Amino acid sequence: MSRTARPRRYLMCRPSHFTVDYSINPWMEPAKPTDADRAVAQWERLYTLFRELGHTVELITPIPGLPDMVFAANGATVIDGTALVARFRHQERVDEAPAYVEWFRSRGYRTVHRAEFTNEGEGDYLLVGERVLAGTGFRTDRRAHAEAERVLGRPVVTLELVDPRYYHLDTALAVLSETEVMYYPAAFSPDSRRTLAELYPDAVIATDEDAAVFGLNAVSDGLRVVLPEAAVGLAAQLRARGFEPIGIDVTELLKAGGSVKCCTLELRGAPA
Ligand code: ARG
Repeated sequence: MSRTARPRRYLMCRPSHFTVDYSINPWMEPAKPTDADRAVAQWERLYTLFRELGHTVELITPIPGLPDMVFAANGATVIDGTALVARFRHQERVDEAPAYVEWFRSRGYRTVHRAEFTNEGEGDYLLVGERVLAGTGFRTDRRAHAEAERVLGRPVVTLELVDPRYYHLDTALAVLSETEVMYYPAAFSPDSRRTLAELYPDAVIATDEDAAVFGLNAVSDGLRVVLPEAAVGLAAQLRARGFEPIGIDVTELLKAGGSVKCCTLELRGAPA
């Protein structure tokens, strides 16, 4: 199978104010020390890698006191130039949303929708071809899925997450191409597992070990798949299918419960 990369536009946020001083997911242990310089160095490597791969990366300015802002994927979902901005579940992150509204407005996005229902952007909304897979269970409100369908103009498929370690869809499932995904079945309810098996019978299935190092928190451009380097089993499976996996060390960010994909919001459609 021959695969081709399509150049992407991403939005990222440098972790200048990175720390773990509250806990809103099971990975976050405020008592455990964090190293902001190390977080920045790991993030810089990811930022540089995307550019070396031919992608465009835009930046949003980090705000002091919002240490999770590095996880730009949560800020919005952008399709056809429409930005559906997040409404965060936890008080600790609610102030991130206005920064995204401001960023999209200042860049000239015509439709910048402030969400009525709680949703955490591409943490829970993943576009696969024409379809949006939408997570719920921990963060994004189920009622937000209908809002997303209306605002983004794409069919939305609801998927229910059941394991608190995999609290966002992008921690349990990654989009590989217009038609292919990889995922960790145990993170989903039995109904959602059935849905996934029907929609994607040939999906790459992650082991417990690969899921636990956030191997599914990956970013694919159709050929190259950037993922945490510890996910060696997934890397081998991807290589066997003609993808080019690129492992990267973002273990400092994992202390906050995030990895490669969490740092990366895809910008689809105008403005350039
Ligand atoms: N500490 C952040 C939170 O719990 C991590 C977000 C990770 N982002 C993601 N797209 N999964 O909200």
